Amino acid sequence: MSILYGSYCLTLKRKSGIIFNMFIWKGSENMSTLILAIESSCDETAAAVVDSGRKILSNIISSQINIHTIYGGVVPEIASRKHTEAISHVVRAALDEAGCALHDISAIAVTAGPGLVGALLVGVSFAKALSYSSGIPLIPVHHIEGHIFGNYPTHPELKPPFVCLVASGGHSHVVYAKDYLEFEIMGRTRDDAAGEAYDKIARILRLGYPGGPKIDKLAKEGNPNSMRFPRVHFKENLDFSFSGVKTAVMNYVHNMQQKGQPVNEADIAASFQEAVVDILVENTVSAAKQKNIKTVCMAGGVASNSRLREKMREETEKHGMKLYYPEPILCTDNAAMIACAGYYELMAGKFAELTLNATPSIKLGEKLK
Ligand code: KG4
Ligand code: ZN
Repeated sequence: MSILYGSYCLTLKRKSGIIFNMFIWKGSENMSTLILAIESSCDETAAAVVDSGRKILSNIISSQINIHTIYGGVVPEIASRKHTEAISHVVRAALDEAGCALHDISAIAVTAGPGLVGALLVGVSFAKALSYSSGIPLIPVHHIEGHIFGNYPTHPELKPPFVCLVASGGHSHVVYAKDYLEFEIMGRTRDDAAGEAYDKIARILRLGYPGGPKIDKLAKEGNPNSMRFPRVHFKENLDFSFSGVKTAVMNYVHNMQQKGQPVNEADIAASFQEAVVDILVENTVSAAKQKNIKTVCMAGGVASNSRLREKMREETEKHGMKLYYPEPILCTDNAAMIACAGYYELMAGKFAELTLNATPSIKLGEKLK
């Protein structure tokens, strides 16, 4: 067989009788390489086709927010069922919008963790079946790594090394991206994620789910200095803790209610947000200073926050650093970011076997298998 560029698949049979596919990739960075990606780690069923890790040809997202809003947060069992209903339509739509067929695809990338196990399993099983039936290589992608890669389509000129703040509903990390696939976690949350804290405070203020965008909007009408909520620092590293600020807000609101006094929701939203943003910005800029890095990125749902963007810009500019963040649609969960990460995994020849499983609490840098 003489193949210069492209992927091909050898189907092998083990002594045990188990059939598995071994994928071989021979590529060049200059050729057009289409990755089909699938993301189903939480409450968005998403599929996308991306060319060579930068150019988005399609990015389909089917959100379940309307259903989960009724319950004030994501219900895992409902999420899995809704993914099952949507996934084949979403993948079909991603191929159609990109104007390509399955045989044009070089690899299928899929989020294999972290996330809700039942939700992840829908995407992983679908991707495995598609890979097996089509002979197209399968690539597992770490969800947090995917968020970091969400920066590249918006900023095609961006290259590592850089420091990236990943803040979403499930995680808050300060990551040093030394190279495309080399990451060092410099700080992480010890309790709630930043987005989770936003969602919980929104619930206390009866703003609904998801709380981040609602607090972001309400905070614009409030005074961020009306209350001073705690900002937690750790001496030994750049870890975060948001449970203290959450409890402080909760206590304040209950106290006022017990006294029969009115609460000013806008002032609370603005003061809470200021505390969270202060600590996110401080730790990210400190990480960049420690690594002597002049490029700072943001990723994850919270990276859409208007005050975070404003304050991060002010502080990075003060230190002569350049700031990047994805357009809003690439901040929240989507499959285009997974396709971008999948492209670099493909270039590095990192494929998955068909025994790939969902790993709900895998750490960044650990191998998905
Ligand atoms: O990345 P993402 O879509 O999903 C996870 O991987 O978790 O992030 C969702 C989180 C939610 O907690 C949501 O409230 C928060 O991101 N979020 C925001 C904003 N937009 C979304 N938080 C603060 N300000 C926003 N504008
Ligand atoms: Zn996410």
